[in-house]
Amino acid sequence: MKILVIGGGGREHALVWKIAQSPLVSKVYCAPGNPGTAELAENLPIAVDQLDKLLAFAYEAKIDLTVVGPEQPLSLGIVDLFEAHGLKVFGPSQKAALIEGSKAFSKDLMYKYNVPTAAYGVFTDLAEAEDFIKRTGAPIVVKADGLAAGKGVIIAQTCEEAVDAVRDMLSGNAFGAAGSRVVIEEFLTGEEASFLVITDGKKILPLASAQDHKAIFDGDQGPNTGGMGAYSPAPVVTPAIHDIAMRQVLQPAIDGMAAEGRPYRGVLYAGLMVKDGEVKTLEFNARFGDPECQPLLMRMKSDIVPVLLAVANGDLAGCELEWHDKAAVCVVMAAEGYPGEYRKGDRISGLDAAAGLDDTYVFHAGTATKEGLCVTNGGRVLGVTSLGATVREAINGAYRAVAHITWPGVQYRSDIGRKALDRL
Ligand code: AMP
Ligand code: GLY
Repeated sequence: MKILVIGGGGREHALVWKIAQSPLVSKVYCAPGNPGTAELAENLPIAVDQLDKLLAFAYEAKIDLTVVGPEQPLSLGIVDLFEAHGLKVFGPSQKAALIEGSKAFSKDLMYKYNVPTAAYGVFTDLAEAEDFIKRTGAPIVVKADGLAAGKGVIIAQTCEEAVDAVRDMLSGNAFGAAGSRVVIEEFLTGEEASFLVITDGKKILPLASAQDHKAIFDGDQGPNTGGMGAYSPAPVVTPAIHDIAMRQVLQPAIDGMAAEGRPYRGVLYAGLMVKDGEVKTLEFNARFGDPECQPLLMRMKSDIVPVLLAVANGDLAGCELEWHDKAAVCVVMAAEGYPGEYRKGDRISGLDAAAGLDDTYVFHAGTATKEGLCVTNGGRVLGVTSLGATVREAINGAYRAVAHITWPGVQYRSDIGRKALDRL
């Protein structure tokens, strides 16, 4: 089989790495890919939003399966376009991807189908939003309705800060059209978990549990990022919490999408807040989480290709997933300035030494090749991921590899996985 992976981040490098191991696969392409995927696949100079070019390539190269990594092409309708041309593709349709593409839609779906979530309101009018904020009180959470690369959420400590955030979003200054509508919601406390499933719209195959680290600095301090590290399994997801998440969150959401005429196929990612044995849903994503995908795929024992293909064919019956008992930890190494404006073009050293370590894989995200050398080219640059017999060993393995790698201004958290250790 020939497989095309769309995207160019750590998630896509992990997907290419896993897919390339399948005995069913003869060739992998990645568009646009990165220097990491180039070692395992043929990169194509096509951006993720150039749907017509992607289609033309897939059609001419007779691609057997396309796997879509990021949310943007899903929201643009890549799955509908490919299917209309008879091509097999893994991911939700445009109508189904709205579960991530509009937070207002997603919250309304949760409300309608009794999926536990924070109390909320949806606003396009500043005065009405201000009134809701004053009645609710701070801290309070303001979210841009549309896609904002994981950065459209403001946790406001005061009502004034919340009103300022709403004003910024509604005026179009903060996130353009994505902020022309806002969701304002109750502030939740607890511990977060990433709960991902693969579904054909009927059968639901849960992936192993995982936890992300959203904030830029140690101790969950500072602004939110796309994710600074992740590990799996996540002990916060006990068997009881797993059951609650399946019964109260994933099953009703997937049934609800079908009832709304938006049958859901692909990966559905629920961001959960767990507290006192209860679960609330922070958000849904229509794709694999990044960096969660990196430790999850390192732990996946089964060949992923039959599962992706079964979803593309709309029938997961008979498919199961097996996992390694080992734990996996991914430490994201980021460029100076991230999640704000960041430095680019710095030479990365130590990649070869890190690559020689056992049970460790360095997934590339924002890297580029310049004059034959690997340089930084994005906010999140690398996902250094290790397997270990325990979370502690996996943490040690990942940081041992991180210690070999450096560039001017490199930043990473030194406490990835600590929450798992605190629960041991
Ligand atoms: P979202 O993109 O909606 O998951 O929000 C990004 C991050 O903001 C989440 O992973 C949480 O860390 C935080 N967050 C979102 N909604 C809430 C909430 N209602 N209460 C507390 N934190 C939240
Ligand atoms: N790591 C969070 C996300 O992929 O949305």
